[in-house]
Amino acid sequence: MIILNGSQSTSLGEKLAIDLGIKFENVSTRIFPDGETYVRINTDVKGREVFIVQTMFPDQNDSLMEFLLIADTARDMGASKITGIVPYLAYSRQDRKFLPGEALSMKTVANLMKSVGVEKLITIDTHYKHMRPGEFDLFGITCLNLSAGKMLLGHIEEEVSNDLMTIGPDFGSSELVKYASGEEKVLKKEKKCPICGLPAAECKCRIKKKKYEITELESELDFNGKNVVILDDIIASGGTMIKAVNKVKSEGARKVLAAATHGLFMKDSLIKLKEITDYLVVTDSISTPVSNVSVASLIVEALK
Ligand code: R5P
Repeated sequence: MIILNGSQSTSLGEKLAIDLGIKFENVSTRIFPDGETYVRINTDVKGREVFIVQTMFPDQNDSLMEFLLIADTARDMGASKITGIVPYLAYSRQDRKFLPGEALSMKTVANLMKSVGVEKLITIDTHYKHMRPGEFDLFGITCLNLSAGKMLLGHIEEEVSNDLMTIGPDFGSSELVKYASGEEKVLKKEKKCPICGLPAAECKCRIKKKKYEITELESELDFNGKNVVILDDIIASGGTMIKAVNKVKSEGARKVLAAATHGLFMKDSLIKLKEITDYLVVTDSISTPVSNVSVASLIVEALK
C-alpha cells in the first residue's frame, strides 16, 4: 500500500501514512504558465494498492484535474487498486437536475474518476443526496461516507461545555445531526405565499409549491438559557449558518456555537461568524484558521 498525496492535502496524507505505517509519497505537481496541470509520480507503484489523498477545495477544477492525472498515471504504472481519499468532494451539491438542461455534475465527476481506474472513494459528510454515513454507490464507484459530526461535538464538549443542545440549521442537516447527537432537531424554513401573505400551510391560492417564499426560520425548540451547537455539513457563503445563529440568539440561547465538517468560508463569512458566535469550528477537510478537528483518525479507522 502507498499513499500518493495531491497538492491540496499534504499534511493529511502524511498523518495518514504515519498512523497506518505505510509508505507516503508527495506527487510532484505544478501549473504551467498557461494554466495546465503537470503531475509526476516519483515512486514505483507497480502491483501496489494506491490511495490518492486530495481534498477538492479551494480550486475545485484544478484539484479534480490533478486527482484524475495522478489516478490515470498510477494506473498506467501498474497500480493494483486505486482508492481516492477525498475529504471534501467537490460538485456534490449538484447531485440532481434542478432545472431541465442542467448538468448532473456529480455523475460527470464520478464517471471521470471511474474512467481513470478509481474503484473506491472515501469521503466525509458528502452533500450528495445528504447521504448517511456508510457505503453507497456513487454512479458506479463504491463510496464510503464517513461522518465528522461526533468528533466536532466531542471537541466542543472538551473546549466549551458538555451541556449542549445540538440542532441543524435546516432540514438537509437532519441526518448529520441525528448521527452526531442522537436527536433530530432542526430549524424549519417558514414559507409564505407571495399573493395572500399567509403561511404555505394555510394558503388557498393554489400556486406552485416552489413559488412560496422562504421568509424566516421557525422552530418549536426552546433555546432559552441553553448552549446551542448549530451543526451543518458545509459553510460556504455562510448565509445558512448566519441566519440560524441569529435566530437562536434572538430566542435567548446562552451560548451559540457553530460547527461544520467543511469550511469553505466564502468572502467575509469567517469574520462574520466569528463575530456572532461564541465558538466556531470546522474540520481540516479544508484548511482554515478554525480547522481545529482533524479527520485523520476517522479515515485511519476506516482503513484499518
Ligand atoms: C445545504 O443544504 C447545506 O447543507 C448547507 O447548509 C449549505 O450548503 C450552506 O451553504 P451557505 O453557507 O452558502 O449558506
